[in-house]
Amino acid sequence: TDKFLVYGNPIAQSKSPKIHQMFAKQTQQNIEYDRQLATIENFKDSLNSFFADEAAKGCNVTAPFKEQAAQWVNQLSSGAKLAGAVNTIIRQSDGTFLGDTTDGPGIVQDLLRLNAVKKGARILLLGAGGAARGALQSLLALEPELLLVANRTTSKAELLASLIPQPNLQACGFDDLVDQNEPFDLIINSTSASLSGELPPIPDEVIANSGYVYDMSYSDKPTVFLKHAASLGVTKYSDGLGMLVGQAAESFYLWRGVRPEVEAVIEALRAEL
Ligand code: ATR
Repeated sequence: TDKFLVYGNPIAQSKSPKIHQMFAKQTQQNIEYDRQLATIENFKDSLNSFFADEAAKGCNVTAPFKEQAAQWVNQLSSGAKLAGAVNTIIRQSDGTFLGDTTDGPGIVQDLLRLNAVKKGARILLLGAGGAARGALQSLLALEPELLLVANRTTSKAELLASLIPQPNLQACGFDDLVDQNEPFDLIINSTSASLSGELPPIPDEVIANSGYVYDMSYSDKPTVFLKHAASLGVTKYSDGLGMLVGQAAESFYLWRGVRPEVEAVIEALRAEL
């Protein structure tokens, strides 16, 4: 039986074991998938001892270890290099370890599933932290007319956009959004504001005029950002539960070469929130 696990701190709340066990059952793959608590001090030692077992084929990595994981692996995918972070480690056939990130592919998979985006869209990405950085390359692969990164700290948005110089990737501060006279097809909230029940301070009209609103975070009730969007008349919106399952599906595919069905898994998780 091949072994997998997810590292994090905290980790008790992680839904990854459940998701991967559902994927395994669905695709008839014989795997074990556990959770592992670590500390910044012992994370790399813990990886070494996990992978000392030849049956250990890969792991997921969540906060706060994604950057450390990027240093531990032998090789980084182009996405992981750009994100500066690894959420998936793969033991390769030559015995070396590849670090990849599936957060970007995960959100894009979910946006396409929801019909929330298509080629040539105008996309507004709120936030310029790790979550935004992880999604950037994959969102650009959708060939948007514009991907505008807006952040409370404008300089961080500018720094992020400078990582991939291309004319359809731009940056601004929240205050500059009043000057946007064309509506956005999609707004993605990647800020951690939701976690503290806060709203990123962007103009109501920008939200009201948008085609779709997506929040990377999720909970049993609509997030404050989605509630706010709904109160402004937005009818198409989603939280990030499908992104969570999407990134897991991409990891599963990297390890097993099989694509699991996400819909039933999203529904099962939703019912248990
Ligand atoms: P993550 O890995 O979740 O992206 P992060 O790297 O700490 O976390 O980034 C948090 C993001 O949320 C940043 O873009 C931050 O804005 P600043 O760069 O200005 O700090 C944004 N953020 C956090 N709290 C916010 C709030 N109350 N309003 C608006 N933006 C907020």
